[in-house]
Amino acid sequence: MHLTLAITGASGALLAQQMLLALEADDRVTRVHFAASENALRVLAEELGLSGRNDLIEKLLGAKPAKTIQLSDADVGASIASGSHPSDGMIILPCSMGTLAAIAHGLANSLIARAADVTLKERRPLLLCVRETPFNRIHLRNMTLAAEAGATIFPVIPAFYNHPLHTTEMARQFVCRVLAHVGLPQPGAYLWKAEE
Ligand SMILES: Cc1cc2nc3c(=O)[nH]c(=O)nc-3n(C[C@H](O)[C@H](O)[C@H](O)COP(=O)(O)O)c2cc1C
Repeated sequence: MHLTLAITGASGALLAQQMLLALEADDRVTRVHFAASENALRVLAEELGLSGRNDLIEKLLGAKPAKTIQLSDADVGASIASGSHPSDGMIILPCSMGTLAAIAHGLANSLIARAADVTLKERRPLLLCVRETPFNRIHLRNMTLAAEAGATIFPVIPAFYNHPLHTTEMARQFVCRVLAHVGLPQPGAYLWKAEE
């Protein structure tokens, strides 16, 4: 699988980090294109204490990436900006209300918004892991617009029924749900078994 992972300026840097770790560890994934918005960097600094764009993937993984390539969000001419570039889908985690609005209205004014636009026009899976609370009517309308265009709205809502003991476990379980949705069920994911 070739996947695109984008992170934007919503809360949830830990989720993005866990997603990157899971994609790097998954042998079914051969290439990950990664882009972070300018505002994502601000949140990464606030929430994970990571600063700067240089070697961002390495900082998030704690090791050199084997398959993840970082692209600039300003580079609207990067590979993933074209539908001719092979891709099996795109995940935006976390997805801010600003990026949701840009996608819902087809602005394509950054690499992330353009790649999402391309993903929709090529009818490939686009998962928008939106995060805001509460939602205003604009957010709700934009989610409907994006869903009508083919995106999956996959809000950052953690599960509690697996009794997570810490935030990393909670984040990891959320990431497992997202990856299962794109056909990549993860080892160690909690699966609900009502009979037990
Ligand atoms: C620490 C921090 C947390 C934020 N959390 C959210 C959030 O959860 N959801 C959201 O929509 N915006 C959030 N924002 C605001 C966005 O970063 C802001 O709207 C930005 O313009 C989004 O730009 P982007 O979509 O290009 O990343 C947050 C900003 C900061 C600094």
